[in-house]
Amino acid sequence: MKKGEMLYEGKAKKVYSTDDSGALLLTYKDDATAFDGAKKGTIRDKGIINNRVSCLLFKLLEREGIETHFLKWVDERSVLVKRLEMLPVEVVVRNLVAGSLAKRCGREEGSELQRPVIELYYKDDSLHDPMINESHALAMGWATEEQLRIMKEKAFKINNILRSFFDSIGIILVDFKIEFGVFQGRVVLGDEISPDTCRLWDKESLEKLDKDRFRRDLGKEEEAYREVARRIEKALREE
Ligand code: TMP
Ligand code: ASP
Repeated sequence: MKKGEMLYEGKAKKVYSTDDSGALLLTYKDDATAFDGAKKGTIRDKGIINNRVSCLLFKLLEREGIETHFLKWVDERSVLVKRLEMLPVEVVVRNLVAGSLAKRCGREEGSELQRPVIELYYKDDSLHDPMINESHALAMGWATEEQLRIMKEKAFKINNILRSFFDSIGIILVDFKIEFGVFQGRVVLGDEISPDTCRLWDKESLEKLDKDRFRRDLGKEEEAYREVARRIEKALREE
């Protein structure tokens, strides 16, 4: 595989073409942003840790029958992925109240939900990724009815798999955000799953092991990210 030109630079990753027209190379950066880029910083080795975590979680999901864009780990910061046509709809799944849901509904962080919640957001930084519903996505042509149905079904399945995996390593999967794209006509999981895109709380201490440490100036971001990677690697090695 040969690395080609940079096609796109996002806040946390760069995307390169390769000599395979069906594959892209993603490289993970240490840059951390929050509030649509209004807060900027870096977390040392975040790119390395997130690449590792995301590759391991995608492999776990593949094993459980969820198709992802993951093809091959290339080096500590890079991964080869299927070239998806991304759908501009972010899917958030929540198991406990936290973050924007706590604010929007006036519930305390950590409050229980009677069942998982699913939310859709339109991926557009200039609009601050507004929350949308299915009828917006259909009316604007962001996804078809069939794609939305598959995204929802997969999101709940992914939640079940990841929630029980994280539980087995002493972590509560509070919520997470995922993105999908189309590959050869199929709706496939893309982007990343990492402490940048999940809320992960230690089961015993309820300590935050995710990007909220950066968003809320709690410090020890690198240690938290490393701890998540360490527990995931240990669990998957021991299988
Ligand atoms: P929220 O409570 O701020 O809406 O976030 C819900 C989940 O989505 C949380 O796990 C963090 C993740 N997330 C992202 O991955 N990217 C984003 O831009 C935002 C706002 C949240
Ligand atoms: N990813 C978003 C940003 O870069 C926000 C967040 O994760 O809180 O601004």
